[in-house]
Amino acid sequence: MKDFVLNSGLRVPAVGFGTYNPQKQDMTELITRALRLGYRFLDTASLYETERNVGEAIRKTGVARKDIIIESKLWYDEMGYQGAKEAIDRSLARIGTDYLDLMLIHWPRATGKSDEDWKTLDLETWRAMEEAVKVGKVREIGCSNFLPHHLENLLLHADVKPAVDQLELHIGYTQEAAVEYCKQHGIQVISWGSLGRGRMDKYVGTEYVKELAEKYGKSEKQIFLRFLVQGNIIAIAKATSEEHMRSNIEIFDFSLTEEEMWFLQCMPETAWMGEHPDFAIPAKHSNPDQ
Ligand SMILES: NC(=O)c1ccc[n+]([C@@H]2O[C@H](COP(=O)([O-])OP(=O)(O)OC[C@H]3O[C@@H](n4cnc5c(N)ncnc54)[C@H](OP(=O)(O)O)[C@@H]3O)[C@@H](O)[C@H]2O)c1
Repeated sequence: MKDFVLNSGLRVPAVGFGTYNPQKQDMTELITRALRLGYRFLDTASLYETERNVGEAIRKTGVARKDIIIESKLWYDEMGYQGAKEAIDRSLARIGTDYLDLMLIHWPRATGKSDEDWKTLDLETWRAMEEAVKVGKVREIGCSNFLPHHLENLLLHADVKPAVDQLELHIGYTQEAAVEYCKQHGIQVISWGSLGRGRMDKYVGTEYVKELAEKYGKSEKQIFLRFLVQGNIIAIAKATSEEHMRSNIEIFDFSLTEEEMWFLQCMPETAWMGEHPDFAIPAKHSNPDQ
């Protein structure tokens, strides 16, 4: 599989396996299957309650820890200097590893917080994350759902720049402003909702994507994923079916033309999951991924 190289030199596979698990499936089994099929980038979060499964699956398959990129996230009720320090230790313990490759702040801002409040909270959280890097608990730190103004707060005041920003991003919701900002500042964009969670099945342009799929002998979902990685965005896909898991990493044997890339980039807006980082922090213990 193709790798992306972060500014620090850390190599991250172009397609990761998502472990958000609202249906409470046997995630150890699913992650084990994904690792056996060749996935080497696992996306988890304290909120998903799948960190333990990540550790169990790695041990079950016997794949060397050094060959796997583990990314986790701390939830907004774990933020603040002390909260983040403890959250990182809890994630490490649940996974059963002595380091995380990537640790992210899951959400930039709680609804109703003044500018001063969320900016301070993000920076205090970040300070604990920077310290975790210094002592070797985390290799790289990053953000999730951060828009340019949230990233700017860190870039202006923090010592370590975010390595990645994980954003909702798919055909029909391409977040140009955030992607451009990340590009300018050397922050790698990772997409979540890469497949649109089934909400993209009836959007304007469906026929065009079908034609592309036929042209390349691929599925429409493979076209969605290829569009991302060809645009230098790491994709995260979650699948329970083995056929889906396999096909989601079989996207490196064809290329879309420049014209096709532009066409897909300019699809009308569709399938946005409906949560804006500034206005829609879900209530404590509810889940932004639903
Ligand atoms: N940072 C954040 O705030 C955030 C938010 C949401 C998600 N995430 C991360 O991103 C991951 C993926 O996002 P998501 O959970 O929204 O799911 P998704 O990857 O957009 O979609 C998953 C759905 O797509 C189906 N699917 C997968 N591959 C397919 C294929 N090749 N053909 C047809 N259908 C296919 C799956 O079906 P089957 O199960 O039948 O295979 C499943 O129903 C999460 O698990 C999580 O790790 C992060």
